[in-house]
Amino acid sequence: MRRPSLHSERLLLRPLDKSDAPSIEAICSQRAVSENLANVPYPYPDGGAQDWLDREAKGLAGINMAITHEGDLIGLIGIKASSERTIGDFVPSIGYWLDLPFWGKGYMQEAVSRLLDWYMPHEPTERIRASVFEDNSRSLNVLQKLGFCEIGRDEGYSIARGTQSPQINLELTANRYKEAMQ
Ligand SMILES: CC(C)(COP(=O)(O)OP(=O)(O)OC[C@H]1O[C@@H](n2cnc3c(N)ncnc32)[C@H](O)[C@@H]1OP(=O)(O)O)[C@@H](O)C(=O)NCCC(=O)NCCS
Repeated sequence: MRRPSLHSERLLLRPLDKSDAPSIEAICSQRAVSENLANVPYPYPDGGAQDWLDREAKGLAGINMAITHEGDLIGLIGIKASSERTIGDFVPSIGYWLDLPFWGKGYMQEAVSRLLDWYMPHEPTERIRASVFEDNSRSLNVLQKLGFCEIGRDEGYSIARGTQSPQINLELTANRYKEAMQ
């Protein structure tokens, strides 16, 4: 799927570029970021961002967009087809992170909302999922404000934590998103 550039009030969501590697590496090196994600190691390896960008460019990492503010990459947002838990059930799931100095300003809610405005009408999907560690109240807050509802709880592995942690699984339906945005 071609990735467009999406403008919102304060942000530009744009396709990733090889030159984004240093910014991604710097942000993902923060423990507060990686410990809330499943697949980002801590400490973050040298060259890790370039390797991931190579996979992304080959379409092996889902649809990902840089979140930029005044020209700088401040975060990333992505949608991928399905996890192992949902094999045979092609419900896409969303993931994201922001550089720590940009937390608490509403940027992620703005970015997720903008991406969904574009994605929901383009894809023949009626629902989108997300999984959040139970101790990640910030991310839970972002999702609930956009209309995501809990559909169950289980455990998820985080490479940075090196362990399984309790997580909440959430789902947004196209109808619920429309209602939340009214
Ligand atoms: C998850 C994460 C993106 C959430 O960041 P965040 O700053 O809490 O979320 P937002 O950018 O949407 O900001 C929301 C906060 O900004 C505040 N805010 C300030 N100005 C605002 C504005 N103009 N509009 C909206 N909200 C605003 C809101 O009140 C809200 O804070 P509150 O929840 O205390 O009320 C961030 O914590 C992160 O990157 N964590 C590490 C990675 C991660 O957890 N990823 C998700 C895995 S499931």
